Amino acid sequence: MRIAFYQMRPVLGEVDKNLELIEKGLKDAEADLIVLPELATTGYMLGSRERAFELSEPIPGGRTFELLRKLSSKLNSAIVAGMAERDGEKVYNSALAVLPDGTHHVYRKTHLFFEEKELFDPGDTGFLVFDFRGVKIGMMICFDWIFPESARELALQGAQIIAHPANLVLPYCQRAMITRCLENRLFAVTANRYGRETDGKNSLEFTGQSQITGPRGDILLRAETEGDMLGVVEIDPEEALNKWITPKNHVLEDRRVELYRNLCSGPDHNDS
Ligand code: ACM
Repeated sequence: MRIAFYQMRPVLGEVDKNLELIEKGLKDAEADLIVLPELATTGYMLGSRERAFELSEPIPGGRTFELLRKLSSKLNSAIVAGMAERDGEKVYNSALAVLPDGTHHVYRKTHLFFEEKELFDPGDTGFLVFDFRGVKIGMMICFDWIFPESARELALQGAQIIAHPANLVLPYCQRAMITRCLENRLFAVTANRYGRETDGKNSLEFTGQSQITGPRGDILLRAETEGDMLGVVEIDPEEALNKWITPKNHVLEDRRVELYRNLCSGPDHNDS
C-alpha cells in the first residue's frame, strides 16, 4: 500500500486558490492514501469566529467536498484533508476523508489548540476508524497528538494507519509521533504545512517536516521545513497488526486498565 502526505502552504482566506494548489499538487499522485494539512483550504489564522464561519463549508456539498471527491475518483485514492466545516450555526475544525467509491467520513477535532478555542466548536464525533482496501484508517488532527489517548483510542479501534492533518507550530510533534507509533505499533501520516501567517494580533510559523512514521518508531520519510512536497512511502499495513513488542508483551492486551484509576474520569483531586 502506498501512503502519502502533501505538504503545502495554503493562502490565508483564499479557498479557490487553495483548491487550485491542491488540484495541481496532487495531479500525478500515485498513492492509495493521500493526507493533506489541517485547514488546507482556508489557512489557519482566521482571526475571528465570524471569519471561520464565513469560510467554512458544509459536508457534503461544499466546493472543497466536491473537488476532493472528484480527485479521489480520478486518482483512485482515499484523500484525507483538513477543512473548516459548517453545520447549522456551528463551525468545526474537521478532517474529511473521501473514498473513490464516493463515500466519505468526517472527524471533528477533539482537542482545540490555543486561539482555535475562540474560532471553532469543540469536535463532537469522537475518534473514528474507517476501512479502505481492507486496511483500517483512523483520523486525528494536529494538537490531538499531545494527548496519547487520541492515538491509543484509534489503535483500540483497530487503526493500522493514522491520517494526521496538521498545522504544527510547536517543535515537538514530529518526535512525539515516533512514540505514538511505537506504543501503538501503527503507521502515521502527519501532513503539515509550512510558512508564516498573521491575524494582526498573533503571528505563527508552521514547522513543515511532514512525516510518515512506522510501527517500530521509524521515520520512513520526513519533508524539509519549507517547500511543497508530495511524499509517498510503500508500506505493508499488516505490520501494524502485530502488537507484540517482545514474545511476551502485547502493547494493547498487557494494559492493566484496572490500575489506571484516573484515566477515564480525569484527575482525582481528593488524593494526595
Ligand atoms: C494545532 O493544533 N494546529 C497546533
